[in-house]
Amino acid sequence: MNRKWWKEAVVYQIYPRSFYDSNADGIGDLRGIMEKLDYLKELGVDVLWLCPIYRSPNDDNGYDISDYYGILEEFGSLQDFEELLAKAHSKGIKIIMDLVVNHTSDEHPWFIEARSSRDSKKRDYYIWRDAKEGAEPNNWGSFFSPSVWEWDEKTQQYYLHLFSKKQPDLNWKNPALRREIYDMMKWWLDKGVDGFRMDVINAIAKMDSFPDAPRPENHTMKYVFFPQYYFNQPGIHEFLQEMNREVLSKYDIMTVGETCCVTTDMAKLYTGEDRNELNMVFQFELMGIDNGEKWKWEYRPWKLTEFKEIMSKWQTELESVGWNSLYLNNHDQPRMVSRFGNDRKYRVESAKMLATMLHTLKGTPFIYQGEEIGMTNVAFDSIYDYRDIESLNFYNIAVNHEKMDPRSALEAIHRIGRDNARTPMQWSDEENAGFTAGKPWIKVNPNYKWINVRQAMEDADSILNYYKKLILLRREYDVMVYGKYIPLLEDDEDIYSYIRQLGRSRLLVILNFFDKNPLFLLPEWLEYNEAKLLISNYRTDGKDDISEIRLRPYEARVYELI
Ligand code: GLC
Ligand code: CA
Repeated sequence: MNRKWWKEAVVYQIYPRSFYDSNADGIGDLRGIMEKLDYLKELGVDVLWLCPIYRSPNDDNGYDISDYYGILEEFGSLQDFEELLAKAHSKGIKIIMDLVVNHTSDEHPWFIEARSSRDSKKRDYYIWRDAKEGAEPNNWGSFFSPSVWEWDEKTQQYYLHLFSKKQPDLNWKNPALRREIYDMMKWWLDKGVDGFRMDVINAIAKMDSFPDAPRPENHTMKYVFFPQYYFNQPGIHEFLQEMNREVLSKYDIMTVGETCCVTTDMAKLYTGEDRNELNMVFQFELMGIDNGEKWKWEYRPWKLTEFKEIMSKWQTELESVGWNSLYLNNHDQPRMVSRFGNDRKYRVESAKMLATMLHTLKGTPFIYQGEEIGMTNVAFDSIYDYRDIESLNFYNIAVNHEKMDPRSALEAIHRIGRDNARTPMQWSDEENAGFTAGKPWIKVNPNYKWINVRQAMEDADSILNYYKKLILLRREYDVMVYGKYIPLLEDDEDIYSYIRQLGRSRLLVILNFFDKNPLFLLPEWLEYNEAKLLISNYRTDGKDDISEIRLRPYEARVYELI
């Protein structure tokens, strides 16, 4: 058992634009985060992950960076950042930055120089190709716009952009580019930041050739979205090992890679403790579970057995090899309680049940802002209320090119769109949820009237107070962090249950995933003298006979087995 602070930590993700606005311009900012540090301290989280705060034209809300060394004016100044970091550190809270180095903004000086002429010294920092028969070099579809290729009129070549055309992809094969990135990372680490969440990091190595993607049957669109070609390509491990050698290994930090499309075998390579790449990665299998492929913008029904199979696979495969990250939502995904729980009658119970899972599985839990008060998806009536580039581009293509009914396109955005997670943090029942004294950059979710931090602080049984308790338990029980995961009742369609075991210390976790009353039957081989209830989202006397439990909707219980 290899102890590390980042294995014991609980991370809280902040989407700064929507967290707290300190100066009434409608946009969350660094001083706003500073004002809420006490709230975060009380919640008990150890690390804050800030979504990008660098200078950016904001085509993709900061994921298009024009200056890696500067802070977006709307968020504050470098001095504000230094003050935030110092204040957080003085409270024992670490801060990790979002590192976006698969692409820059097209307004980054590198790109401006690169596109100025074919002979520019920076030309090779990006990926350029000639036209093929007067058109794009291949049929690859991008995340946000039809093709991954954009024509540059002046220099008569296409450049590659997996995301928007304002996010040109960097060419990691260029050693001078890599050096500049490592220097930049060191600059932030020398300032005292505690690590990085690395944006689409497994896309930095590109295929040498750019073959057409296989066209699925009945595919009507001109371009084919085929991430298998964009991620996990040869060369990726060499880049990460070099980055580790040159930068990461010199600091006591944590790293987590955003790695779309990874399998557990790949994750072992990225996170293997003897491989010197990353500490952990975000897996996407669970995120694909109900919409199969997100780019299709549709849900498919999922079964709990399927969900558990994915979880158990990641838990067991990485056991004593690498380390898991645990999350059910973030700024790119719908709200956890709306997607995997029940955001109506059992909102509170199901949010607590899911939280119980996130804090009792093996790995580092990531809480996304608002999750701790059970914030839900939003459903704006008009496309004009949406801000997310991905949703807006989807709508435009679906309605204007694919002739999809606008109502259905809007409904798809209601279910899957990224703005579900980006409405302002709900601090109180005051106007605009207490997020801003001005006009918010995106509308608040109207349910702030009853779902907000102030309410949650006053209610002893709130989701917020439950999170605090879970975080404290994690601190108290080593087995919650380091214990081995042993799944139980694997074929059960309603109940997720497992044991965590560390030496003689054992926890039993029981989670009812639906609005039903299934019967939990303790496997007979499991021996114990006493079962002590550590936490539950329902009242129980704690003395129940655990060999047989009739569970209430979304009930969660964690026992210590003695
Ligand atoms: C990641 C980010 C997402 C962004 C994309 C491009 O997936 O999480 O928000 O749009 O990368 O940078
Ligand atoms: Ca502001």
